[in-house]
Amino acid sequence: MAAVEAHGVRQVYGRGLKDRVVALDGVDLTVQKGESLGIVGESGSGKSTLARILTGIEQPHEGTVLVNGRPLPTAGRAWRERRRQLQLIPQHAGGALDARVTMEQHLAEVVDAHHLAPDRAARRRLIADSLERVGLAAEHGRKRPRQLSGGQQQRVIIARSLLLSPEILFADEPTSALDLLVRRQIVDLLNVTCRGPHRVFAIVTHDLQIVDGLCDRLIVMKNGKIVESGPTETLLSNPQHAYTRQLVTAAFQTTPSALAAVREAG
Ligand SMILES: Nc1ncnc2c1ncn2[C@@H]1O[C@H](COP(=O)(O)OP(=O)(O)OP(=O)(O)O)[C@@H](O)[C@H]1O
Ligand SMILES: [Mg+2]
Repeated sequence: MAAVEAHGVRQVYGRGLKDRVVALDGVDLTVQKGESLGIVGESGSGKSTLARILTGIEQPHEGTVLVNGRPLPTAGRAWRERRRQLQLIPQHAGGALDARVTMEQHLAEVVDAHHLAPDRAARRRLIADSLERVGLAAEHGRKRPRQLSGGQQQRVIIARSLLLSPEILFADEPTSALDLLVRRQIVDLLNVTCRGPHRVFAIVTHDLQIVDGLCDRLIVMKNGKIVESGPTETLLSNPQHAYTRQLVTAAFQTTPSALAAVREAG
């Protein structure tokens, strides 16, 4: 059974003719357990909308989403339990944080809500460890969102999602605000913690260097549709769609066929 399935998913925003946006236009997608998926595509192509719909944050206008063969509950206890296994790291980290609450408290809420630590000492250790894993010090934990940079906030959101070791994790541009070294560290962390035979990891990114090595399969989106999909290696070395070709050329500063030749030789 597939871990995540989307059938004929369509999402329309706005009402009047002028504001109407078809953000997703008939998306079909199946993600198997153990698979890691890269979602790429130009700005406004529907990547974040797809990530929100596949994780049940948002309901589609049309179509169905199944997780482990079943529709997602929309509220109540069943929804809370399911949330634990299904996490979205949202694109705009700042908006996901409460301005009045320290970073430690953000993490503590998850620890308490899901009974992850038996006592206060264990809770403290768990929070310190999870900050450390994303390269933050204890002092960052005592700060409120506005006292931290965008990249530091982004890392707290990642730490919070990883606390639950979700079976299915969608990360929407999780490294966009990070410098190159921290980006590497976070990608390595995601690689180690989010991939496994029973897990699904999906990342939305503009950075093809990240998906190369991290994702088994790529989908390329344009105007609310999946225009290309395939194993990462094949798609990078032999892209069919013009947009994918441009993306590969820009990311690796070489043409797809030259990239393929270098890889074959190496
Ligand atoms: N809540 C909303 N209300 C109205 N329009 C929306 C809403 N969310 C997204 N859209 C529109 O839907 C389209 C797809 O947006 P989405 O955020 O999914 O794109 P994206 O591929 O994630 O882009 P980016 O790479 O810039 O993050 C865009 O045209 C966007 O303006
Ligand atoms: Mg987006």
